[in-house]
Amino acid sequence: MVAVPIADISQQTVARIRSALLDWYGQNARTLVWRTPPGSKARPDPYRVWLSEVMLQQTTTPHATPYFQAFTTRWPTVNDLAAAPDSDVMAAWAGLGYYARARNLLACARAVARDHGGAFPGTEADLLKLPGVGAYTAAAVAAIAFGRPANVVDGNVERVMARLFAVETPLPAARPRLKALATRFVIGDQPGAEHADWPQALMDLGATVCRPKSPLCDRCPVAFGCAALTTGDSGRYPLKVKKGERPHRHGIAWVLRDGEGRVGLVRRPDKGLLGGMLGLPTSDWNAVPDVTPPVSLDWHDAGTVEHVFTHFSLTLVVHVATGEGDFLWTPEADAMAGLPTVFRKALERGLGGWISPSRTTAAEAM
Ligand code: ADE
Repeated sequence: MVAVPIADISQQTVARIRSALLDWYGQNARTLVWRTPPGSKARPDPYRVWLSEVMLQQTTTPHATPYFQAFTTRWPTVNDLAAAPDSDVMAAWAGLGYYARARNLLACARAVARDHGGAFPGTEADLLKLPGVGAYTAAAVAAIAFGRPANVVDGNVERVMARLFAVETPLPAARPRLKALATRFVIGDQPGAEHADWPQALMDLGATVCRPKSPLCDRCPVAFGCAALTTGDSGRYPLKVKKGERPHRHGIAWVLRDGEGRVGLVRRPDKGLLGGMLGLPTSDWNAVPDVTPPVSLDWHDAGTVEHVFTHFSLTLVVHVATGEGDFLWTPEADAMAGLPTVFRKALERGLGGWISPSRTTAAEAM
């Protein structure tokens, strides 16, 4: 394989970029609920940093914010979270997707409470030993909560590096290279506020200026050192290999009501997708159309819902009926609030289809 050359930047330019971006961050840092302002002597609570970073691996800052507030109001410390019943935490996580993270979140909180007296360890190496804490989270917590030098690399940082150095290798193959380039900016080995600010400065630049589409290069504080800008098409970076189409799956979801405003739910098996969460009873998701329902009743077709998971997309046909059976009978409002998004969509479709079957057909409502 022929190595693709990358534009190089002298270590002196690297230091100038770091300094210019830290200055910019001092003026332009986003106000985020889990943050302390740039340059702050007061470090943020490691619990809040860790929680925000886990949430932000899952979703955007606007979407994560209300979840973060709800979690920290209900569980203000890691010990509170550690003591919470699994089902409460899973329900509070519903809507953030990827439920394995919620399980890891609890496992980590319990390890911190049990093995560390409720205080997060302060080094990247010790953070990495916690359950569910990977390289990104360990680096982010070490830097942001403890002011330690650490190379924190998320998608924003990868994009900024790909542009600064005009990296021609496409993602995902470029990832190790981008991480190595980002290390060059982690300068100095003593703890301090700059180490907390640096990754957040990079992330804010990536989110607000060095945006994935239409980067605002005329507002960029480090344009002077950007190799992509000299190509005239900075938005071309990072290059990406086109992803194969997600496979598409089909299934049936059964919305069973009991006539007292409750719906019949099931607890999903611990292992696997949405493991341990409450859900509607469904067929498996490679279903042929004539699967046997969980109980024999007069089922009506309420239409379909679509949902996109990380590794596949799904069409669920929603069937509704009134009846009894061995289910977790849950008030509709609680189910709507606590179910993972895919089931909430199906429940909404089922209840709509049931309350007023003649109101709209599923096809009209799409
Ligand atoms: N995305 C992930 N972590 C972040 C942080 N600490 N600040 C801004 N954006 C982020």
